[in-house]
Amino acid sequence: MPGFGNDFETEALPGALPQGMNSPQKCNYGLYGEQLSGTAFTADPPERTWTYRIRPSVKHSTRYERIDLPYWKSAPHVVEDVTSLGQYRWDPVPHSDEALTWLTGMRTMTTAGDVHTQIGMAAHIYLVNTSMDDAYFYSADSELLVVPQEGRLRFATELGIIDIEPREIAIIPRGLVYRVEVLDGPCRGFVCENYGQKFELPGRGPIGANCLANPRDFKAPVAAFEDREVPSTLTIKWCGQFHETKIAQSPLDVVAWHGNYAPVKYDLRNYCPVGAILFDHPDPSIFTVLTAPSGVPGTANIDFVLFRERWMVAEDTFRPPWYHKNIMSELMGNIYGQYDAKPQGFAPGGISLHNMMLPHGPDRNAFEGASNADLKPEKLDNTMSFMFETRFPQQLTAFAGREAPLQDNYIDCWDSLEKKFDGTPGRK
Ligand SMILES: [Fe+2]
Repeated sequence: MPGFGNDFETEALPGALPQGMNSPQKCNYGLYGEQLSGTAFTADPPERTWTYRIRPSVKHSTRYERIDLPYWKSAPHVVEDVTSLGQYRWDPVPHSDEALTWLTGMRTMTTAGDVHTQIGMAAHIYLVNTSMDDAYFYSADSELLVVPQEGRLRFATELGIIDIEPREIAIIPRGLVYRVEVLDGPCRGFVCENYGQKFELPGRGPIGANCLANPRDFKAPVAAFEDREVPSTLTIKWCGQFHETKIAQSPLDVVAWHGNYAPVKYDLRNYCPVGAILFDHPDPSIFTVLTAPSGVPGTANIDFVLFRERWMVAEDTFRPPWYHKNIMSELMGNIYGQYDAKPQGFAPGGISLHNMMLPHGPDRNAFEGASNADLKPEKLDNTMSFMFETRFPQQLTAFAGREAPLQDNYIDCWDSLEKKFDGTPGRK
């Protein structure tokens, strides 16, 4: 196992990967050496990958032609007559009869920050029922965190193949070329498009070296190449615009690679939650799977937070999330099951948004149930929700505000909360 703290190396043909150096005068098999840099050269630690490929990427790119993908939006994107200030919830966006690919099926719900200055994010729903056929894509703007909710997808990338299904996630790095195929459809899920610094594992602080997400549970693909000469299209997302370039072959022609800039998948069932074991409960940051730093320590561009099955054991404690307002903007999605703060209305495939400094918390049923529960140890079962939380306010797209199944009455879920105070000491 080569490496020191650590890179990957993989070759699909024996001897394709140069040993002891990166850039030999002539590469084995007549391959071209090429570096993909995910960080500035001088960033510490650098994230980069050396590839050895049939053709250099300049051969997978000709003149660019602007195209329109009207449902995929990038920040800044503020729609004049759509109000983003609010507590919002959506039913699952229904599947379409139209043939939709990874590109045409992307539906942006919110954007935050600014793609041009590489801060912020966008949250999307994808509805995919059709494989990309001799068609490829990369985003120069962003890495994509993919959270499937229905169906199985294959990401055939330059660096190898990743298949994912619900309860797994994948991270596709900025600049990496890939094709998305439907293995079992129709497929629906969530995407966090990260314009900023890459996702990394959060520092565990006093938790120490174990629990939460462990590095060994992330899986990177082995090298897999295509030597296929057919007319193909490569689409590039660049500064919020989409451009096509026509090429004569598959660009997935990397025979060997080594480095630390690679796509990964992760099974969310490997996430080991840590929580309250006597009374009260910690902030939801205790459930952070991945964090994308913003440059301000502790203040994430994006946190990816997971609410999964776990035991609730705290004594004399209101166990659901407490009422709060938060400078961070919270977009939640339900992967399966029921979420404890909202027993109804937040369906698998659904989304909620609690934007910057807007109050939220349990609805009346959740409050009354939790306030009067017999506090024996209880397993929260059949539940997996997540949050994309960003330091930037999230702006709704026209799709989110007008076309997606917005629940007009969501804000009413707190209406029936009662005033209990009447000045009597000891009243509970
Ligand atoms: Fe919240």
